[in-house]
Amino acid sequence: MNRNKQREQEQAASRTNMHLTLLTPAIGVEIRGLDLGGDLPAETVQRLRALWLQHLVVFIKDQQLSPAQQLAFARRIGVPDHYPFLTGLAGFPEITEVLKREDETINFGGLWHTDTTYQSQPPMATMLYAKELPVAGGDTLFANQYLAWESLSPGLQQTLRHLRAIASAGKGAVAATRAPRIAEQGTGREADQLQAIHPVARQHPETGRTSLFVNPAHTTGFEGWTEVESAPLLDYLFAWQTREALCCRFRWEQGDLALWDNRCTLHFPINDYPGERRLMHRITLCGDAVIAA
Ligand code: SIN
Repeated sequence: MNRNKQREQEQAASRTNMHLTLLTPAIGVEIRGLDLGGDLPAETVQRLRALWLQHLVVFIKDQQLSPAQQLAFARRIGVPDHYPFLTGLAGFPEITEVLKREDETINFGGLWHTDTTYQSQPPMATMLYAKELPVAGGDTLFANQYLAWESLSPGLQQTLRHLRAIASAGKGAVAATRAPRIAEQGTGREADQLQAIHPVARQHPETGRTSLFVNPAHTTGFEGWTEVESAPLLDYLFAWQTREALCCRFRWEQGDLALWDNRCTLHFPINDYPGERRLMHRITLCGDAVIAA
């Protein structure tokens, strides 16, 4: 972002008492001075949305939200969806508990991914609210997929523009991360039933920018290629799209709310807090069909 643009955003934010801190030049902005449980003026929601589109993930600090308040805020941003594999909170089916108990070793979604790309219309956004955290650890990494695309060579971009990739809910590593929660709160949906095919070069419906739209957790291969043929190029892209230069690392505090754009980011919750409990409340917001760039 150039200096003028950043100054404009800071001035706009200061008119709504927002205080902004960038996490890295690539991705992520922390916002203080907002009460999401209150009656936010439309102008504030509009500014927040602009910051979210600009920085890809916003971290809104110091919230005290009931499930009803989190859901009401989610409805200001988009249309809350239902996660296919888990029943939600009692009375709030759109809110999924992302939980790791003290005695568990696997964390939910504990690998690089963007959410539920095995759906034909994957979610636009995810909102994660920190309820209970370990004393240390349990951070989440985010990676900018516009930069992942833009930093590829023109030659590889040209090849990838012709490809579509298959995303499956049943890929072994990610399916294993859901297993403890499914055992307690499963909807009975079979992972193998959920599969979708999307363009690899994705045009963002709001910004018009191109992002790289594959991810290690769900992408199994390219349409028309075998999995064995796909693996070398996919492995290259998975490493490329998660390079440090594209990332930020967010250290959660209780009451933080993150809102990320699933159309142009990946995330990775780190599993480094054995023997401790971590509980987040998650809402995904409906998206639309993936447009080829
Ligand atoms: C998720 O992948 O939705 C969970 C992310 C996290 O627990 O930080």
